[in-house]
Amino acid sequence: MNVLLLGSGGREHALAWKLAQSPLLERLYAAPGNPGIAEHAEIVDIAVNDHRAVIDFCLRHSIGFVVIGPEAPLVAGLGDNLRTMGIAVFGPNKAPAQLEGSKGFTKDLCAREKIPTAGYVRCESRDGALASLEDFGLPVVIKADGLAAGKGVTVAFTHEEAEGAVQAIFSEAGASVVIEEFLEGEEASLFVLTDGEAFVSFGSAQDHKRVGDGDTGPNTGGMGAYSPAPVLTPELETQAIDEIVRPTIEALARVGTPYSGVLYAGLMLTPTGPKLIEYNARFGDPECQVLMMRFTGDLLELMLAVARGELANHPAPTFAAKTALTVVMAANGYPGTPETGGAITGIDKAEATGAKVFHAGTRMEGDTLVASGGRVLNVTALGDTVKEAQEAAYRAVDAIDFPTGFSRRDIGWREIAREG
Ligand code: AMP
Ligand code: GLY
Repeated sequence: MNVLLLGSGGREHALAWKLAQSPLLERLYAAPGNPGIAEHAEIVDIAVNDHRAVIDFCLRHSIGFVVIGPEAPLVAGLGDNLRTMGIAVFGPNKAPAQLEGSKGFTKDLCAREKIPTAGYVRCESRDGALASLEDFGLPVVIKADGLAAGKGVTVAFTHEEAEGAVQAIFSEAGASVVIEEFLEGEEASLFVLTDGEAFVSFGSAQDHKRVGDGDTGPNTGGMGAYSPAPVLTPELETQAIDEIVRPTIEALARVGTPYSGVLYAGLMLTPTGPKLIEYNARFGDPECQVLMMRFTGDLLELMLAVARGELANHPAPTFAAKTALTVVMAANGYPGTPETGGAITGIDKAEATGAKVFHAGTRMEGDTLVASGGRVLNVTALGDTVKEAQEAAYRAVDAIDFPTGFSRRDIGWREIAREG
């Protein structure tokens, strides 16, 4: 089968790497892709937001399956348009992708289905939002509605900060806001594959969202991750599935908008049990890289079972009984304006240590690999413990020469402290 993979990050490099291992694959195409993805796929020049162009490409190249990596095309309804044309897709349609596209949609669904999550109000006006702040203690969480890529969230520790966040959101026309109670606890991510009815756990991970060691500095898309996340014990995972994931999948099916793809639940493990922070309609980045590093099955076969509604008859996914840990190497300046164009060498040396280096934001300039974005490489390794996986990952990081980049040095620190 010919497959088209959409996206250009480390997540998509990890997906391409696994898809390329499937005996079911004939040709893999990718758009926009990156130099790492190009090792496994033919890079093609299609504007992913031009749905007509994507469909035309699929028809001309006998594409039987499209794997959509990032959220934007899902929220824009590319899945619906491909399915209408009879092309199988990994990733939800537009309506169920609202779980990621609209925080308000998700909060309202949680309220209807009694899914544990932070108490909240949705406000469409500045004055309404400012008045509603009075109903919350401190800290309080202010979220812009709509796709915000993690940037539209403020945890305000003072009333002034909270008001400032509301004012900033309503400085744009048509804005709306969700104001939430602050949840105490440790965060973990749970990934579930579902075809709309049947579902199966695809494992857990813990991300590191702040740019600096010890979880300091501004929020990023994620500076490193490991999987599994032992803090999400089997008991807590079962509780999260029963109280959060299952009611969500059932509610969407009931209203005729079943969710097909991977459902990524961002959880806060509070003293009173797991609560939903947010849903994403795709794999996490860089969480996907650690999941793929551990996954031992045929990714294409599994994704096809999801897309065809055949998950109930498919064997459960299998994983190496090891920890995978990935360290993001970012360009100086990230998460502000990253310094692009810096040369990168030593990936071969890093991989000679047994690690896998996924490209996230790279491009070729002549024969030289250079940084082209904020998050540049995801250096990923396996170990018997988080500590061993961390040591292996940093051995590989240290083999890479990327003078205009940086990484955190403490990925996995919470779990390593518990391992003692
Ligand atoms: P979100 O974009 O909703 O995932 O939020 C980004 C980050 O803000 C999360 O990963 C949490 O670290 C934090 N956050 C969001 N909502 C809450 C909440 N209600 N309580 C505590 N922290 C939160
Ligand atoms: N690493 C967080 C995300 O993919 O949303």
